[in-house]
Amino acid sequence: MISQYQESLLLPARTFQSGPMDTTYEDVLEHIDSGIMLFDEEGVLTFVNKQMYGILELNRHSLLGCTLNHLLAHIQLSRFKKKQVLRSYREMVVKGKPSYEFVDEYGRYWRASLCSGEQMKGCYLFTLKEISDFKLIEQTAYQNDSLAMLGRLSASIAHEIRNPLTAIRGFIQLLHPHLHLLGKEEYAKIILAEIDRANDIIHEFLTSSKPSVPQVSMIPVSALLKEVVLLTESEALMKGCQINLQVLQEDLFISGDTKQMKQVVLNMIRNAMEAISERADDSMGRIEVGARKEGTEVRIFISDNGKGMDICTLDRLFNPFFTTKENGTGLGLSVSDRIIKNHGGCISVSSRLNEGTRFVISLPLIH
Ligand SMILES: Nc1ncnc2c1ncn2[C@@H]1O[C@H](COP(=O)(O)OP(=O)(O)OP(=O)(O)O)[C@@H](O)[C@H]1O
Ligand SMILES: [Mg+2]
Repeated sequence: MISQYQESLLLPARTFQSGPMDTTYEDVLEHIDSGIMLFDEEGVLTFVNKQMYGILELNRHSLLGCTLNHLLAHIQLSRFKKKQVLRSYREMVVKGKPSYEFVDEYGRYWRASLCSGEQMKGCYLFTLKEISDFKLIEQTAYQNDSLAMLGRLSASIAHEIRNPLTAIRGFIQLLHPHLHLLGKEEYAKIILAEIDRANDIIHEFLTSSKPSVPQVSMIPVSALLKEVVLLTESEALMKGCQINLQVLQEDLFISGDTKQMKQVVLNMIRNAMEAISERADDSMGRIEVGARKEGTEVRIFISDNGKGMDICTLDRLFNPFFTTKENGTGLGLSVSDRIIKNHGGCISVSSRLNEGTRFVISLPLIH
């Protein structure tokens, strides 16, 4: 097969008329999203579709009747493309690989495939398909995987650091009376305070990336929202925004962990305040918080007139470690999403760039 093909390289170009291919098939091949070239048993190009001559940036008539050798010598084919044609030939014909992937001069990913042998009656079908989207998904999945691994690794390191800290704390306490005698009691106090601070940081990190086991109770939604709004109101005013708590039905109850639920609403109000302070104009920021009954569910909503989100941000919003903020950890919404799912609910979001965002938390209603 290879020798046949190599012989074909020596064939001179001949004038070529498009063969008697069925026009319906030709139309189908013409409109397919891959580039297609068909070489006959003598290695002469007998068909090339629109996509392929577009990719090669050549016109169809200068291609038909060419052999591989002529293609490589084609005066209008760029050097980069000649290199890729030659590499595809080496990988698939000489080394016998069924396909070959490469990146073109514009950064797009392509997969070339070659089909030959008996089923092709001695002809060679060469196809070229752009796979940039697929590669992007592959890279994002790989990145998310590495980030999740990094998260687990840091959580286990943080966890292990607590053990030596406990030992150091114990020994400092033992040394305390001796340091007191030396008049250096202050040192012991500083060391203990710093160890406690380190422990608090570790505790916060571990609990923010992993919701603890829920302490289930019946939660009155109106009391929950009132409390969170009270906690955030003054901070919001300082940032130039007002939080409006809409009149709530008093008899709406959900079942769950109060602390975790507070954490979710707090995360969302914080995000809303940050989105408002990142807006281009400085009109009054507004955050609306409320809840209503919808069939067998309670819908808690938090909407803001902040900077809004583009489609790329919306797509990745709940991914762990995804953040657009300089000092963000990107954990707020991924942890919130996990908490709500653990409570049998879901979070939906709608947003318009430069207009605002609305988060809706749906949870089963308790009667
Ligand atoms: N209300 C909102 N308006 C506009 N963008 C938002 C809003 N809420 C979330 N986002 C976008 O979603 C991203 C992820 O939010 P998330 O709360 O998970 O992390 P973060 O706020 O960046 O960091 P942190 O871990 O400190 O909360 C944000 O960086 C922001 O781009
Ligand atoms: Mg956040």
